[in-house]
Amino acid sequence: MSEPIYRTIIEPFRIHSVEPLTMTTAAQRREHAAEAGYNLFQLRAEHVLIDLLTDSGTGAMSRDQWAAMQRGDESYAGSPSYFIFRDAVRHLFPFEHVIPVHQGRAAERIIFGVLGGAGKVVPSNTHFDTTRANIEATGAEAVDLVIDEANDPTSLHPFKGNMDIAKLDELLALRGADVPVVFITITNNSGGGQPVSLANLREVRAVCDKYGKMLFLDACRFAENAWFIHERESGYSEANVEDIVREMASLADGMTMSAKKDPMGNIGGWLALNDDDLAQQCRNLVILTEGFPTYGGLAGRDLEALAQGLKEVVQHDYLRYRITSTAYLGKALTERGIPVLQPYGGHAIYLDARAWLSHLDPLQYPGQALAVALYEFGGIRSCEIGTVMFGRHPDGSEAAAPMDLVRLAIPRRTYTQSHIDYVIEVCEKVAETVHSLPGYRISYEPPALRHFTARFEQI
Ligand SMILES: Cc1ncc(COP(=O)(O)O)c(C=O)c1O
Repeated sequence: MSEPIYRTIIEPFRIHSVEPLTMTTAAQRREHAAEAGYNLFQLRAEHVLIDLLTDSGTGAMSRDQWAAMQRGDESYAGSPSYFIFRDAVRHLFPFEHVIPVHQGRAAERIIFGVLGGAGKVVPSNTHFDTTRANIEATGAEAVDLVIDEANDPTSLHPFKGNMDIAKLDELLALRGADVPVVFITITNNSGGGQPVSLANLREVRAVCDKYGKMLFLDACRFAENAWFIHERESGYSEANVEDIVREMASLADGMTMSAKKDPMGNIGGWLALNDDDLAQQCRNLVILTEGFPTYGGLAGRDLEALAQGLKEVVQHDYLRYRITSTAYLGKALTERGIPVLQPYGGHAIYLDARAWLSHLDPLQYPGQALAVALYEFGGIRSCEIGTVMFGRHPDGSEAAAPMDLVRLAIPRRTYTQSHIDYVIEVCEKVAETVHSLPGYRISYEPPALRHFTARFEQI
């Protein structure tokens, strides 16, 4: 018998331990939203039914990860758990130095603590918000050089996370002396979870070599990026994802990592690099705020869980399910006429709030308005990625971000297809009155990363 083909995307796991979800009424949710100053980060999690705020640290660990935690060795220095973790990282990213940290932004603070400073410029395809904030906190400038197609929500470019090579070359020709390192985010979270091709990475490497610059990966979603390469880049359909990951790593000099994403951790991260002097300086900063460099703010058991997670995330069955089930949500919304960023991202579907809530000006925060509506209508928590997140500039001015998106991030191995069917139904309900949703103004904002703690009022 030839291999039968089935339509249904089944989760390649079964449930071993469950968590209850709390049901709320629309009236209760309206109250909770108002109490939270219409900022969904300020909600109590038990007031949320389906939490798509982020895929960061919110995934379900496997049986084997929980078992690995029991092996955790909590020695302060030189724990065997560190070496298991280090070797698992190096199996995919063979960098000389692997320094654990408590999460991605700690790796960013440490590397830019050494390489940043006033007058410096750090280019990337698109810096994630914490990366940008950590660069700017040192007085340096963060520059986004993603290809133009990335800012067109309807463009079907298969690698919309790619760096614009001409712009990178131009920046390095003009200000090369001020650039300590070039970054590339895989996948490009702020640009819609879009992948970067190996061809583009090779070109970025060539430009970095031309100007003698280091290239670092912000590699949070490396496995999803590798799966997109496997599916979309010519010459890679037969390749193993692990080999694709190693090829990506071979083009870089180092990486920052939030292990709360593809490594399947609830906490963790690392900084890995080849340069001995730079690694020494980074380790000194790690000791200052994270802990001894063989644990970096993590427990030995966390290091064990991450080592096991790294083995699980590169499995083809898992990645096929992950990317197909995310696309299932995207396709269903597109079929219902809801504008969704194309192509569908790896870890999330991004609603194009600027297009959908076209009655609102970007400075009335259409993404925030849509995110609040999804919560009030159905208890879904999402995340605005638009003018609230990126509209305030270091000089104090405010302007529309390139896009106003609402990200529906899918935690790994956490929700089933019926949860996602419910999300689709809530979006249908919102669609009925979407053009009468109110805009928002900000009544309080902090000096940086305002989206986490700002308070809003309805206009
Ligand atoms: C692309 C990217 N870089 C860096 C980070 C920061 O990682 P963490 O939240 O672990 O500090 C994130 C987190 O969402 C991210 O998506």
